[in-house]
Amino acid sequence: MSDLQSKTLSLGGCDPEQLAVAGVQGLHPYQPGKPISELEREYGVSDVVKLASNENPFGVSPAAIAAMQAELADLWLYPDGGGYSLRGKLAELHGCAPECVTLGNGSNDVLALLAECFLEPGREAIFSQYCFAVYPIATQAAGAQACVVPANGLDHAQPLGHDLEAMAAAINERTALVFVANPNNPTGTWLEEAELRRFLDKVPAHVIVVIDEAYHEYALDRGAPDVSGWLAQYPNLVVSRTFSKAYGLAGVRVGYSVSSPAIAAVLNRLRQPFNVNSLALAGAEAALADQAFIRRSVQGNAEGMQQLKTGLDQLGLDYVDSACNFLLVNLERAADPVNERLMQRGVIVRPVANYGLPEWLRVTIGTSDQNERLLAALAESLV
Ligand SMILES: Cc1ncc(COP(=O)(O)O)c(C=O)c1O
Repeated sequence: MSDLQSKTLSLGGCDPEQLAVAGVQGLHPYQPGKPISELEREYGVSDVVKLASNENPFGVSPAAIAAMQAELADLWLYPDGGGYSLRGKLAELHGCAPECVTLGNGSNDVLALLAECFLEPGREAIFSQYCFAVYPIATQAAGAQACVVPANGLDHAQPLGHDLEAMAAAINERTALVFVANPNNPTGTWLEEAELRRFLDKVPAHVIVVIDEAYHEYALDRGAPDVSGWLAQYPNLVVSRTFSKAYGLAGVRVGYSVSSPAIAAVLNRLRQPFNVNSLALAGAEAALADQAFIRRSVQGNAEGMQQLKTGLDQLGLDYVDSACNFLLVNLERAADPVNERLMQRGVIVRPVANYGLPEWLRVTIGTSDQNERLLAALAESLV
């Protein structure tokens, strides 16, 4: 009798939990921000403000909407599975060959692909203590070992951020991947050019370093470098970007990585055919061309960030300085009851207890009106 048969028989039938592969057993799925419609249904509220998923509150470039509308009549056709046109434009943007670009159904898709292609039982992935939740999930799903490196302390210039020296020291012969988010979610902390170069110089060639630049557009002004120009120097480097944040296209799911053509060729073996749909391909290409929209979004974010910081200061709440479109706020009390009262007032933010931060909330920077709503609701919820 096979191991699978005996597991099933001893449990008197089909037990998917036992039948799931080792990495998937006990895996906790990614928790997305609560959708507006769900809060309306559950709490009987209307006029909901959602500041939970770091979406762009200024919406989508009108040019991207027009490009997607123009695609509608052709939706009976499969998309261009190679994403020829968008990859060409991205290659121009990054000064690399189109063969370096791997498109994903959101950058999440590319991060999962990296784990699937380069991790397996017996290998390790390194990431920081308060990192994007998908890194540990993708690592565990691949059956690999997670090496979680303690984050900077609260007294550090980048509190709760990546300790790159400790991450470099954690590399061993089993290490296959290192995930570094710059800037980082959920902390908003960032890394500057010199320290990133120092880190990359120490990483041996058998380790692939993924620099996740999902919030790059917001962080440029704060000194986080564009590392996509470093590919020639570091053949083990992969840079991921997304259209979900500053580009405002979270709903259609499109992201990508740039890497050496050799790494991209490996990723392409497991990439699902047609993983990026036609609307996303057209929308992303038009959004990329509308850099004025990005500049307005980044400027609006900077203003909203200042508004929220001022309001939080007035409420006596501390927060981590952020190069992103969100702030990690220290409530210095259990966050769950405060979050509950915010939801009763129609405001959705992100509790981060699942990140090991039960006294903090992550709030996305909204429009001026949304920020006012959040601050007013927070003032009433801090009892
Ligand atoms: C650091 C980071 N990387 C990647 C992603 C994935 O975004 P998407 O799959 O929408 O591109 C997110 C989303 O919140 C993120 O915060």
